[in-house]
Amino acid sequence: MRTDDGRGTIAVILAAGEGTRMRSARPKVLHEIAGLSLVGHVVRAVADSGIGRVAVVVGPDRADVAMEAARHAAGVAVFEQRERRGTAHAALAARAALEQGCHRLVVLFGDTPLVTPATIGRLLAALDGGAAVAVLAFRPADPAGYGRVLTDGSGVIAIREHKDASDAERAVGLCNAGLMAFDGRDALAILDAIGSANAQGEFYLTDAVEVARARGRAVAWIEAAEAEVMGVNDRAQLAAAGRLMQERLRERAMRGGVTMIAPETVHVAWDTVFGRDVVIEPNVFIGPGVRIEDDAVIHASSHLVGAEGKSAEGVVVGSGVHVGPFARLRPGARLAKGAKVGNFVEIKAADIGPGAKVSHLTYIGDASVGADANIGAGTITCNYDGFLKYRTEIGARAFIGSNSALVAPVRIGEGAIVGAGSVVTKDVAADALAVARGRQQPDRAGWAARFRETMSERKAAKAR
Ligand code: UD1
Ligand code: MG
Repeated sequence: MRTDDGRGTIAVILAAGEGTRMRSARPKVLHEIAGLSLVGHVVRAVADSGIGRVAVVVGPDRADVAMEAARHAAGVAVFEQRERRGTAHAALAARAALEQGCHRLVVLFGDTPLVTPATIGRLLAALDGGAAVAVLAFRPADPAGYGRVLTDGSGVIAIREHKDASDAERAVGLCNAGLMAFDGRDALAILDAIGSANAQGEFYLTDAVEVARARGRAVAWIEAAEAEVMGVNDRAQLAAAGRLMQERLRERAMRGGVTMIAPETVHVAWDTVFGRDVVIEPNVFIGPGVRIEDDAVIHASSHLVGAEGKSAEGVVVGSGVHVGPFARLRPGARLAKGAKVGNFVEIKAADIGPGAKVSHLTYIGDASVGADANIGAGTITCNYDGFLKYRTEIGARAFIGSNSALVAPVRIGEGAIVGAGSVVTKDVAADALAVARGRQQPDRAGWAARFRETMSERKAAKAR
């Protein structure tokens, strides 16, 4: 490989398109797969490939896209494309970055989220033979909509957009993935020479091929698998890309020592961290911000999300912890080693201490539960009064009887016992018994039998 001339590589990520085919109020590149925006995936792949200079081109007044892109790598420069006049026009919105000079330029699309650092590296290396431009091509199952890559023995001769292509050109299966690499010395001149005489009246980045050829320069190409370079233009493609990403992430998890009984039913997030010998049962959904430590078991149909909207406290499932079936862990749920969270239990912003058990039908929110405490079935921490949230603290080894309501703010001392069915509004001292419910009346002997007799006579009289 030719050594860098010292000016480095620039990546320009185009993310200014409207994404009209998504039929969405949200910009296309902010739609998510595996819990991360499309543009976030691209920025991360670029940063992971070792490229330090990253420019992202966003549409007018798209501070949301700019912020999302900048969140995923250090030193991302954001440029605005004021009018959407095509992919070459968009690349030139980053002119100020390109004018600083670079050894190589790679242009990527914000709607191509499956690209890997290895493929970015391979595309840049394709310039090594002296080509001015290198194109990333692939053979999609359905080429409709993609630009066709027209080649001869010497390399790429043109890329024809679907809308501009003849029937013969449309029959070509080799398509443009959208990523393109340029020799830094020619990049700006080539981009500036691109015109807009085509079906859409746009400045097509793909015309860089013919411009380079006209300047007597070669255009190289490499191929990648569709699973890496498919573009997302509508919701069906969003789902297809999501599926491919899931396959990749699950494969990585399994290679790292995770057992999945029915992997195709498990959804994982881009940042899920798994320990060794974790077992994931069928139909589990894992959203962003979740860490699952060694030997933990996530039973079937559980839902774990560590980052959601403004809450990003994460979810930690400690080693050996069992979760579910049918459990829900929300941001800030931290389950220490050996804890247990059983069926139909929801945990939010709560620390569950080592060995503590919350086995059935319970809501624990804004709380801490001490080591080895036992929370009975149907316990609810009443953390919200319609305006503000309050905390519940449960000491180590405490025992909360079934169907108790703990009205926060409230503290249950270490080793205390709360009687079943209690509504606890006052703190309970360590090792005390608290019973807060209606007292049971003495039995009325024979009452039930007399009641049945009277009622069946009445019913019979009515039927006559
Ligand atoms: C583009 C390619 C096509 C390729 C396909 C691969 C061109 C002309 N066509 O078509 O050859 O097969 O991608 O997925 O390059 N964008 C801007 N500003 C604009 C227009 C687009 O920033 O003015 C951005 C979009 O946000 C998007 C990317 O560029 O991330 C590609 O635009 P899109 O409209 O999706 O192009 P395609 O029709 O998919
Ligand atoms: Mg596209």
